[in-house]
Amino acid sequence: SGTVAAPPAAAGPAASPHASACQRLQLSSVPDRLPCREAERASVRAFLEGGVRAGTAKSSLYLSGMPGTGKTATVREVLAGLRASAAAGELAPFDEVWVNALALSHPHQLYSTVWRALTTRNAAPARAAQLLEARFSAPSAGRRAVVLVVDELDCLVTRKQTVLYNLLDWPSRRHARLVVVGIANTMDLPERMLPRVHSRLGLARVVFQPYTRDQIRDIVCDRLSGLSVFRSDAVEMAARKVAALSGDVRRALHICRRAAELAAERAQGSVAGAGADAAEGGR
Ligand SMILES: Nc1ncnc2c1ncn2[C@@H]1O[C@H](COP(=O)(O)OP(=O)(O)O)[C@@H](O)[C@H]1O
Ligand SMILES: [Mg+2]
Repeated sequence: SGTVAAPPAAAGPAASPHASACQRLQLSSVPDRLPCREAERASVRAFLEGGVRAGTAKSSLYLSGMPGTGKTATVREVLAGLRASAAAGELAPFDEVWVNALALSHPHQLYSTVWRALTTRNAAPARAAQLLEARFSAPSAGRRAVVLVVDELDCLVTRKQTVLYNLLDWPSRRHARLVVVGIANTMDLPERMLPRVHSRLGLARVVFQPYTRDQIRDIVCDRLSGLSVFRSDAVEMAARKVAALSGDVRRALHICRRAAELAAERAQGSVAGAGADAAEGGR
């Protein structure tokens, strides 16, 4: 797994196990393989790979689950795998557009953002919506397929749901060559859309269930593999607490990271203490 630490440089001091543990438990150090999400990854991969091969997918893919259930990490991992397949010549090259809807000042900005990503040109939202509609409806010999991921999809909700509807409906345009993945924290976003809208979309869906206690333990232990910094019942306890509260693995990683930091500080403190003792003894 990608979390295996590089061997320490010969000259430098080896990082302490606690420091290595802190590093591996950071949210920013995402392992190359995500344990406990094999089924979800396989579904997302099958959908995207099929879409890229066909140059289109008849429906959009809707991923939902509570925060911290690995949705974003799973899609990133699948995209990295597809990119590698394309680089190896096993899959037609495709383009990727990743939009975090949280970062948009208004849902309508989605149009401008996607248009700019596809063409590097600027257009105001209403104009960009027209341009996108025209692009997806006109023949496009040789154009690459595009995988468009919209993360934090919940932020696109408006009273009339137009933005959400257009986004999820684009792939059905004749020449779209577009595969859309929406990632949401809300389970029932499609149901809360107007029924007319919902029924037309026929979304493919993958639900990310909250992690169970055992999964949280396995995820933390996987990141710590080869290091013995915690007693196994300590990780077990953190996993049990987090599973009971939310199943948000970020909390478990945070709790364990904090524990490793405290242990590191304590270890350093005792080293400093020993140094002071030695200095005193030498006086
Ligand atoms: N199965 C897993 N294995 C290892 N780390 C995970 C796993 N699931 C989530 N994480 C980590 O937890 C954090 C939150 O995951 P993320 O994909 O952002 O959740 P979501 O998008 O569902 O809110 C990330 O740092 C990610 O690396
Ligand atoms: Mg996310």
